[in-house]
Amino acid sequence: MRFPSKNLASALRGLVRRKLFLQDPIPTRYLLLRALDRRYGIVKSYQRKLDYGLVERAHYGHCMLHAAILARKLQHSRISCIEFGVAGGAGLIAMEQHAEAVRAETGVEIVVFGFDTGKGMPAPVDYRDLPYLWQSGYFAMDIPKLSGRLKIARLLLGDVAETLQDFTEREKPPPIGFIAFDLDYYSSTVTALKIFEANHRYLLPRVACYFDDMVGDIDWAYNEFTGELLAIKEFNAQHHDIKIAPVSGLRFSGRRIPQAWHEQIFVAHLFAHPDYRTPISELTQLPLDAN
Ligand SMILES: C[S@@+](CC[C@H](N)C(=O)[O-])C[C@H]1O[C@@H](n2cnc3c(N)ncnc32)[C@H](O)[C@@H]1O
Repeated sequence: MRFPSKNLASALRGLVRRKLFLQDPIPTRYLLLRALDRRYGIVKSYQRKLDYGLVERAHYGHCMLHAAILARKLQHSRISCIEFGVAGGAGLIAMEQHAEAVRAETGVEIVVFGFDTGKGMPAPVDYRDLPYLWQSGYFAMDIPKLSGRLKIARLLLGDVAETLQDFTEREKPPPIGFIAFDLDYYSSTVTALKIFEANHRYLLPRVACYFDDMVGDIDWAYNEFTGELLAIKEFNAQHHDIKIAPVSGLRFSGRRIPQAWHEQIFVAHLFAHPDYRTPISELTQLPLDAN
C-alpha cells in the first residue's frame, strides 16, 4: 500500500506502535484525525481537541473547561483545580497544560494543587483499600525531578489526612471547580472527600470530579463495597445536602464518542451553596418554528 506522504506514513506507524488501533474502541476516522493532528496540528479549537481526544488526559481538560465556564457565569475570574494522588506527576503536568489552554479559551485563571505523600502509597488499612492491588511504597515520587518540571502547581506533600487539615483556610484558594481523585485507597479517598465540607466560598456550587479507580477488568474488580466507589456511597449517605453523582448521559452529549472516562466523571452537588440555584443555562426560550 502506498501512503500519500512519508510524514503521514510515519504518523500512522506511530499510532500502530502505541497500539491505539488495538486498544481504543474509537472509529478509525478519529484515530486518523488524532495522528494527523499530532503531526500537523490541524484541529485548532481546544473544545474539539477535547471532544476528539486529541490531547493528553482530555478528561481533565473537559472538566476544567466546564468548571471555568461555570465560574465565568458566576462572575469568578479564578478557580482552583486539584489532583489528589500525584505519583510521578504526569497527571499534574497535564493539569497545568490544561490550565493554560482553558485560560486562553475562557480568560479564567486556574490555580493547581497536587496532594501526595511524596513517598508512594501508605500501608493499606483493611480490605476496603484493595490491598490485592496496592501496597505500601507503590508509586513513589521523584520529588526534585517533578518539582523541576512544574510551572504553576503547588505540591502539598504528606499524608492527605494532615495536608488537607485547614487547607482552605491556610491557602485561601479561589473556588475549587475540578478535582481528580486518584489516591486509589478507600481510606485516603474518604479523607479527601472532606474537601466538600469546606466553606462555600472555596467551592463552586457544582464541582466536577474524576475518579480514576472505578473502571477495570475482573481481576481489578472495582465495586461499591470497596475502594473509591464505597467512599462515594458512604459520603452520600452521610451528607444530606451534598451529593456526589455521575453525570447522566455524559457520553451522548456533544460530538464525542463514548469512552471509559465518561463513566468516571461525577459532579459534587452542594445544594446549600448560595450559588446552587443561580441560572446558568443559555437556553431560555423554545419558540415554535415560523414554518
Ligand atoms: C496511582 S497514584 C496517582 C497517579 C497520578 N494521579 C497519575 O495520574 O499519574 C496514587 C497516589 O496516591 C498517593 N496516596 C495514596 N494515599 C495517600 C494519602 N493518604 N495521602 C497522600 N497521598 C496518598 C500515593 O502516594 C500515590 O502516589
